[in-house]
Amino acid sequence: MNRNRRDFLSATAAAVTLSASLPRLAQAAIPIHAAAQPQQQAASTDEVITVPGYPAPTEIKPIDIINLRELEPAAQKVIPPGGFGYISSAAGDEWTKRENEAAYKRITIKPHYLSGYSTADRSITLLGAKLSMPIVLSPMGAHGMAHATAEIGSAKGTAAADTLYIAATPSNFSLEQIAKAGSGPKWFQLYMPSDRGAATELLQRAKAAGYLAIVFTVDTVVASNRETDRRNHFRSPLPAANFAGRSSAYGTGGFKSDLDWNDVEFTRKTTGLPVLIKGVMSPELASIAMERGCAGVQVSNHGGRQLDDVPATITVLPKIVEAVRGRGVILIDGGIRRGQDVFKALAVGANAVAVGRPLMYGLALGGWQGVQTVFQHLDGELEMTMRLAGARTISEISKSYLT
Ligand SMILES: Cc1cc2nc3c(=O)[nH]c(=O)nc-3n(C[C@H](O)[C@H](O)[C@H](O)COP(=O)(O)O)c2cc1C
Repeated sequence: MNRNRRDFLSATAAAVTLSASLPRLAQAAIPIHAAAQPQQQAASTDEVITVPGYPAPTEIKPIDIINLRELEPAAQKVIPPGGFGYISSAAGDEWTKRENEAAYKRITIKPHYLSGYSTADRSITLLGAKLSMPIVLSPMGAHGMAHATAEIGSAKGTAAADTLYIAATPSNFSLEQIAKAGSGPKWFQLYMPSDRGAATELLQRAKAAGYLAIVFTVDTVVASNRETDRRNHFRSPLPAANFAGRSSAYGTGGFKSDLDWNDVEFTRKTTGLPVLIKGVMSPELASIAMERGCAGVQVSNHGGRQLDDVPATITVLPKIVEAVRGRGVILIDGGIRRGQDVFKALAVGANAVAVGRPLMYGLALGGWQGVQTVFQHLDGELEMTMRLAGARTISEISKSYLT
């Protein structure tokens, strides 16, 4: 077996075994600070994953947030070191990961003063789903690394924030269990099994469980160079719930490493659901996705976890917006840590943003309540940005708000 393929399979195996709201602006409460409530809750036993040798956090409580960047060192204190390394790190020199955040600072906002507005409505409709904010949970595998309630906790917290949950293929609870956790809308992220029978079964299960769209990730055809995991000798001890007790094709066949447009077409035909391509980094790919009937794209470099030295997502967004020409929805992820980042992505032309690591840290620090607080904090910063920049609705945010 060629080396890359072998590494991919072992990394895949590792992966699959694997508001308090901001004070209302009307109260002019700055600096921004989500006040913690004193009550704590315990999860019921069917909502936790206990793995010997992996003491994941268990506390469920609202968390104090000054800003999302400060969550990382706080989460490092409670997540076991191997799991924290897996979540926080990225590929190679981690340049792309850093650049994702840094690039937002090179874009500046042009406020529209004297707009006469006193409100900022953040609600949107995304492929028919009504959301309270244009901020969604980006698909991430193995939430059990961050908290014992794993995806049950993150799905409940996302539903409590009244926004969209994208469940990842390598989850620690099954897609059916996640679908029942929290009442909010959910999409399913696909790592396509190499066996067509297994792929059909997985997709049909997602449809039967009520997922509203498929997010087809295309940037993970081989394992990447995760030096932190190698240094930590880290292999996730957590279960790959979507594959447990299934045919051997799920367990041993691995994921398809020679993805092409036939696989996208197969996914559309098998489910009849809207399909979005995740990992789009070029206008060419975005354009073909539209021509081939995809419902949208998620502009993503996997948070810098796959191919290092690709550009920051926000820098490629303008040309992708041009290529899509309103034919589908555009999500963007990678390095979104501030309400201003959300505002800038929307101003360039994204319909919504997806957030990764900060939500894992929120989960680690407070279970579902921590996840809810992270959403509310970022939404509160977006509200403040809209008010200060003079934008009343999400659809109003355009390039005219950028210098
Ligand atoms: C721990 C972790 C696991 C991830 N697992 C997946 C996955 O299973 N499928 C996927 O498409 N993306 C996965 N991603 C990538 C995220 O969807 C997203 O692209 C990235 O985290 C966004 O960057 P951010 O963390 O800077 O917000 C993962 C990211 C992290 C941090």
